[in-house]
This record gives sequence, C-alpha cells and structure tokens, in this order.
Amino acid sequence: MITGKTKIIGIFGDPIEHTLSPLIHNEAFSYLGLDYCYVAFNVKKDKLKEATEAIRALNIRGVNITVPHKETVIQYIDEVSDEAKNIGAVNTILNNEGILKGFNTDVNGFILSLKDEGISIKNKNFLILGAGGAAKAIVYGILKEGGKVYIYNRTPSKALAIKEKFKKFGFIEIVEMDKSVTEKIDVIVNATSLGLKKDDPMPLNPELIKPEHVYCDIVYPETPLMREAEQIGCKVVGGIGMLLWQAAFAFKIWTEVEAPIEIMKKTLNKLLTKD
Ligand code: ATR
Repeated sequence: MITGKTKIIGIFGDPIEHTLSPLIHNEAFSYLGLDYCYVAFNVKKDKLKEATEAIRALNIRGVNITVPHKETVIQYIDEVSDEAKNIGAVNTILNNEGILKGFNTDVNGFILSLKDEGISIKNKNFLILGAGGAAKAIVYGILKEGGKVYIYNRTPSKALAIKEKFKKFGFIEIVEMDKSVTEKIDVIVNATSLGLKKDDPMPLNPELIKPEHVYCDIVYPETPLMREAEQIGCKVVGGIGMLLWQAAFAFKIWTEVEAPIEIMKKTLNKLLTKD
C-alpha cells in the first residue's frame, strides 16, 4: 500500500513506456515488505535538468537513468562513482539527503550476468560488436576483470574513440570482420541494438561463429543471432541477465538491502514469456 511514508524511486527516459524496471523493482519491494514504490517518468531531453533537480525538491530516494540521458545527466548531479566517471555514463542515482550521486550498474550487471552462467572473463578474448553507449560499459567491465577486447563496429571512428578512451585499462584492439578474428575469440558479445526490431540485419555473419564460442547478446528476450548460435552449439547468454543484475545492484544502492534475485528473475521470465 502506498502511504505518506512510502519512498519513491523513478526512472527517467524517453521513450519509457516499454520499460520493465517498475515491474521488477515493485515486485521485489513487495516481496521484501519494503515501503518503496517505483514509477516511470517520460523525461524529454530539454527537461532533464529540471527533472533531476526535482529529485531533490520532491525528496525522491533515487532513479534509474536510461536512453537518451545516461551521459548528459552527469552535469546535473553532485558526485559520480569512479566507474560511472570512467565510462562517462550514469544509469542509477541515489539521493542522499539532497546530495545526488551517480553510479553505473550496467558494468557489474554485465559481469554478473556472465559469472552467473559460469563464464570467466580473466585472460579471455572478447569480440564486441558495436561501439555505442552499451558497448562502453561492457568494454570497461571486461577490461576491469582482466579480459582482452576486440571491437568491431560499422562506423570505425566510434570504435577508435572507445579504444582511445579505455586503452589505459587493458588490451583493446579494433578489428575488421573476417574468419581470422573469430578464430582467436572465446566470447562474442552483441552490444549493438540489432535484433531489437524484426527486420534488423544480423550484427555478425553466423558462418563466423563456432561451437566453442560463448555468444552473448544485450538485446532481449531472444534475437535471431542468439537462435543461430544456439543451433551451432554455442553456450548462449541473453540480455535478460544484464537487465536483472543491473537492477539488483541499483536496488541495493537505494534500499541498502540485498535484492531478491530469484524473485526478480521469476518476474522477468514471466513478463518475457507472456508475449
Ligand atoms: P546504445 O546506447 O544502446 O549502445 P547507440 O549508442 O545508438 O545505442 O549504439 C548503437 C550501436 O548499434 C552502434 O554501435 C551502432 O553502430 P554505428 O556506430 O555504426 O552507428 C550499432 N548499429 C545500429 N544499427 C546498426 C546497423 N543497421 N548495422 C550495424 N550496426 C548498427
């Protein structure tokens, strides 16, 4: 029940109607009997400053930040975690008595989604497809854990910008797409948005995928390339894991209580098998 004491958590994004975050978090709050309520706010680009100031004014406990605000929101908050600073993107804000601190839980969300499936990162070779916002968090997370990164992107200049930004954290190389690349790779990660829409091309020619590869996708519930990789015999990790774990880390930041992972997982699976 929402009362006068209920603490509010939000999410700022545009578009926002498709978000699953309110459902995951509200289910978790209710399971643990925590007096919190999570709501989605459609915040347009030119209203982000006012919306962020409203976190303080309305005494909102915290928010998630999603597309297209993850980078621009940094200028409006008071403190930024090292991780979020290194990546240049914030997906979680905590309001600590009027001081707004930004975090990036996508990084550990991605790492945990691999570890949860028994996939190790240290000294492994990762091929990252894409060089957008999601790719940045993934590349940083892999380097932080001692993995090696090879990036392929349609627009090479964006891959180059990631290399320049992150080369101080570990091994990172830009590649052209051919067989000689995938031969030395252990884990392939689709960090592009391809697979989200029905008519999207595949981010990688399936002929380059071998059964020994682990194939990860940040898109959920399932992309055509995930299905191809499964048929080839690869171990496949979908985007639900990253969604789940980034939510779990944000939940802990706001409530200081461990997230009920199994309940969150169940909620997500139920939602994603419905349609
Ligand atoms: P996000 O923040 O979700 O990562 P983004 O920053 O817009 O979104 O990045 C989207 C990624 O998907 C980019 O790497 C983009 O490639 P470009 O840098 O060349 O634009 C990639 N992408 C999107 N549509 C694509 C397509 N049709 N073919 C190849 N890559 C595509």
